[in-house]
Amino acid sequence: MPLTPAIESGDRSHGATAIESVAQLSTILEDTDPTLDPALGRLARQAAAEGIVLLRNDDAVLPLDGRTVAVFGRTQLDWFAVGYGSGGDVKVPYVWNLVAGLRDAGVTVDSEVADLYAAWCAENPAELTGTWGQWPHHFPEMPLDPAVAASAATRADTAVVVIGRAAGEARESILEPGSYYLAEEERTLLDAVTAAFARTVVVLDVGNVMDLSWLADYGDRITGLLAAWQGGMEGARAVAAVLSGETPASGKLTDTIARSYADYPSAANFGDPDANTYVEDIFVGYRYFETFAPERVLFPFGFGLGYTTFALTTQAHEVDGILRLTIDVRNAGTRAGAETVQVYVAAPGVMLSQPSRRLAAYRKTAVLQPGESERVQVSIAMDDLASYDDAGATGHRSAWVLEAGDYAFFVGTDVRSATAETTVTIPDVRVVRQVTEAAAPVLPFERMTLTRDTDGTARVATAPVPTATVDLRERILQQLPAALPVPAAPLTLDAVAAGEATLDEFVAQLTAAELADIARGDITMHSPLGAAGNAGVLGGVSESLRAKGVRPVTTTDGPSGIRLSAYASLLPSGTALASTWNPVLVRELTALHAQEMIRKGSDVLLSPGMNIHRDPLCGRNFEYFSEDPLVTGWTAAAVVQGIQSQGVAACPKHFAANNQETNRTRNDSRVSERALREIYLRGFEICVREAQPLAIMMSYNQINGVWAHYHHDLVTTILRGEWGYTGCVMTDWWMEEAVDPLFPALENSAYRVRAQVDVLMPGGVKTDAGPQSYADDSIAQSLARPDGLTLGELQRGARNVLGLVLALTPVIDART
Ligand code: BGC
Repeated sequence: MPLTPAIESGDRSHGATAIESVAQLSTILEDTDPTLDPALGRLARQAAAEGIVLLRNDDAVLPLDGRTVAVFGRTQLDWFAVGYGSGGDVKVPYVWNLVAGLRDAGVTVDSEVADLYAAWCAENPAELTGTWGQWPHHFPEMPLDPAVAASAATRADTAVVVIGRAAGEARESILEPGSYYLAEEERTLLDAVTAAFARTVVVLDVGNVMDLSWLADYGDRITGLLAAWQGGMEGARAVAAVLSGETPASGKLTDTIARSYADYPSAANFGDPDANTYVEDIFVGYRYFETFAPERVLFPFGFGLGYTTFALTTQAHEVDGILRLTIDVRNAGTRAGAETVQVYVAAPGVMLSQPSRRLAAYRKTAVLQPGESERVQVSIAMDDLASYDDAGATGHRSAWVLEAGDYAFFVGTDVRSATAETTVTIPDVRVVRQVTEAAAPVLPFERMTLTRDTDGTARVATAPVPTATVDLRERILQQLPAALPVPAAPLTLDAVAAGEATLDEFVAQLTAAELADIARGDITMHSPLGAAGNAGVLGGVSESLRAKGVRPVTTTDGPSGIRLSAYASLLPSGTALASTWNPVLVRELTALHAQEMIRKGSDVLLSPGMNIHRDPLCGRNFEYFSEDPLVTGWTAAAVVQGIQSQGVAACPKHFAANNQETNRTRNDSRVSERALREIYLRGFEICVREAQPLAIMMSYNQINGVWAHYHHDLVTTILRGEWGYTGCVMTDWWMEEAVDPLFPALENSAYRVRAQVDVLMPGGVKTDAGPQSYADDSIAQSLARPDGLTLGELQRGARNVLGLVLALTPVIDART
């Protein structure tokens, strides 16, 4: 039972037809009650626990099974529950720390060491001050006297050392001690503890992958290692549950952990403020490492230990292009556990360079008792494994193609150890979908391809990237929509909701000024039209629109919780959720989260964050899921389905190729069309096709020289044209001013509306002096110019926005 009905109901009902006054809508009271739904807390804890990845467990040091522990490292108290910025800035009433969590789980914690840290942390508080984007990557560590560790080892069997890191929005992880690297005091701490204890377990409370090369310096002195990610308010308790054995370890890596930063294929082309060339092309993460540099991997993609072992038996048969795998998963060990079965494919790679393995499907079992089995069924459509030929190498340029040849399938529990199980042969090259060139690079560069030595060894080669050939101006002109015929009688949106009129009829009778209002939010964040502390409101942003029944729609961040002035739950970060490899659980969690949205007054959660972990330093990686687009797409689809099952909306972001925070509003992601479609857009495509998010947020950056929020090809050609998306597309908060180079009569919002980026959020103009509290008139100006924006385009955008308003109206009405 939810404990807090956060939204006061009163006389604010705006009736079934028209909304009468702003005052009615701006009175959602500030919620000062810190009580949360305990059921959401329980699920959050379970998800955080399932996302914890056990990377090392020598001599079965875990679970603790009643052994006493001494806990070192200040992060045991100053726990990083989430990363920084909009993605984690939730007013959360409580956050568990590890010592409290361990005690709560019944683990005996050495109190001398715990007291020492408590006293030191009280004297040296973790300062979270710092201006936006200047937050600490870690908190300075307590200098540990080796004698303290030695004496603790006489009282406790096992040492737990916690290392904490955070990064965030406008705050990359950096190649320095205390961020990507171990800090000097952490090294001293590990030296002292591993010298004193026979068993040391290291817990990484981190949002990003960090350097782990130091593991080699300690050899078998470090017996256990856990990547806990940032699990939200219940995260430390989840770690305690896994350490104690109350919950079996079952998380799997959604990224490769390499031996050193320089090993990552993006390393030389990350962080430039102006432009980053994605030379690694499709060879992102494990696609690169497993193909070209397996020896540079410390922990492979998909890897994660449990407290038991599993035996897998696979049967396969293929009919009409569908491969069906039946995998019996038997718990062959002596403890309970859950396993994630992973299926990888190796495509022929004769005409198109291909990675040696690529994730094709995965399923997680329930928790199985020793001896128990589960039969996992996996269906893979061969068509879903097609590659995008941007160069015409297969004879089919701008098409999704299955090359002729043998497709080998591997089944296992991580990318490296999966074993060959079956092969499907495609006799002739098969065009799965012919599309059109879109968003291709303008500037030439060399991209990574694969060549083979005579003995078959894969080697990195390069080839010129195909550059754009399309006449975009012509493409746009051919697709301009006609203006809608105006209906005779005035209509309200409620008539559309009641099925008495069509949305087109409603849109047709709106004035140009009303249409321009629909194309922007209510100017500022914290709009008076929504719950206190909202990120912005869209839809019914003017009196005249509200008089026609257009409800104001409240957006809130996202992803890890509802960011409002009110208290709200802080859930596991994106990486933690994805590391569960359990979309069913994610769906359950986000459905419950959506009920909190309804109680708190949020209509659209600005979530999930879905950018690819291209590089381990990207500040917002904690919000995102994986280096792999399938894990990204499936996890995102689960988030969207969960949220939208309750009648509110999700808003996947940031579309697309927002892979770094450095100069994020200006830098250009230069990427081949193939890599864009197969890696950076693929997760969004899966999410759109499987879960139909009601809204999508663009990214700040440019893609091949065009800002995402002006990108016609990205939004109109691909998202809407190819994927059939009909929802509402909004900018990330504010946008860069620009004149359309192809149509100089369009600037700023007019340029954006032509691309079908429907709403500027939060709505005001951003000038060089920063965000302003007024809207620009670029739409009105452009409508009046020859070769300017057309009424039909403005109406088309309004239809996209009003579809969202209509979908949300029942929830908004029920709330008020
Ligand atoms: C972030 C978005 C966020 C928005 C609203 C932007 O700076 O990039 O992810 O949803 O602010 O807070």
